[in-house]
Amino acid sequence: MTLWFVALTSVGRAQSPNLGKLVAEADVAGWDISILPDGTGLPTGSGTPEQGAKVFATKCALCHGPEAKGGTAAALVGGQPLTNGIETPKTIANFWPYSTTLFDFIRRAMPWQAPRTLTSDEVYALSAYILSLNKITGPTDVMNAQTLAKVRMPNRDGFIPRHPDRMP
Ligand code: HEC
Repeated sequence: MTLWFVALTSVGRAQSPNLGKLVAEADVAGWDISILPDGTGLPTGSGTPEQGAKVFATKCALCHGPEAKGGTAAALVGGQPLTNGIETPKTIANFWPYSTTLFDFIRRAMPWQAPRTLTSDEVYALSAYILSLNKITGPTDVMNAQTLAKVRMPNRDGFIPRHPDRMP
């Protein structure tokens, strides 16, 4: 009985169960799109608020409303201070601690009906536009991997991180 068990486990270690096939690195790369708070993972490319306004009008305004003021989907601009109470709607300006999350979220999830169809330049431009509408950045500020990562969000210190040593 003992011998049988040893034989089985050593076979298990020596070869895979032969299910599926190994994933090629190139295939993983297409899904490895997470961007960390400090900007690690941001791709090359850039965009301005002016460019972002054009993309927004054609690809986003139908749900988020003109100038992101809200429609069938949430407003991406404004928001009451969170000190008004727990029921206050959380927005990019009053809640999100990192600007880099904006790039990650838009790239992976928007537009809602066609996620992952935007180019990096479009996502930088949209990030620049939304941040400037919220007056977090200026109306001509160019967003790229360096500048976006440096943007400090208003609620940056409103969280108690579980692992402060891992925060930028
Ligand atoms: C077909 C409707 C639709 C379109 C078009 C659309 N969105 Fe959205 N958007 C949504 C919905 C629905 C949500 C909420 C998703 C959720 O909570 O999972 C959302 C959420 C978001 C959020 C997060 C807001 C928050 O405060 O949590 C951002 C940012 C955003 N969208 C940006 C965009 C941008 C930029 C575009 C254009 C490229 C776009 N959306 C196009 C429907 C849409």
